[in-house]
Amino acid sequence: MTQLPSVLFICLGNICRSPLAEAALRSAADGRGVSLQVDSAGIGGWHAGEAPDPRAQQVARAHGIDIGHYRARQVHRTDFVEFDHLVALDLENLAELRRLRPSGARARLSLLLDHVPGRAGQPVADPYYGGPEGFLATWADVTAGANGLLAGFLRQA
Ligand code: 4NP
Repeated sequence: MTQLPSVLFICLGNICRSPLAEAALRSAADGRGVSLQVDSAGIGGWHAGEAPDPRAQQVARAHGIDIGHYRARQVHRTDFVEFDHLVALDLENLAELRRLRPSGARARLSLLLDHVPGRAGQPVADPYYGGPEGFLATWADVTAGANGLLAGFLRQA
């Protein structure tokens, strides 16, 4: 198996968008027979230790992926050293990562949809306060982002 860069996805709470991005990238990598280290975390720690939001679990399950065992955690300084890429789901998350980044950190920071042609600079909208249909849009966005990220890695491998 080809060993690719490691990726940590970051959203606000780590119970909606970033666990779905993690699931989408794992699934895309499995589908191509490649291996990479993937995790997700939140800017905030309010939901630390919790499973993903039931609506996020539902949309993943609808695509054949069980994320019920994922547990939320807050991003930590060591993540900037341990991961190759920290990928933010929206612009506020990215700004916060830039603020938290310790000097000498090796992780590259980017926005997820920067990895999708034609969508650079766009956020993945926060579905937390909306209805279940928002999670379908989240799934579409994170799938596009994960595929774009992986395609970029494979071009460089
Ligand atoms: P996420 O969604 O950042 O995609 O996990 C949210 C989850 C929880 C909250 C906000 C956004 N919250 O305010 O608790």
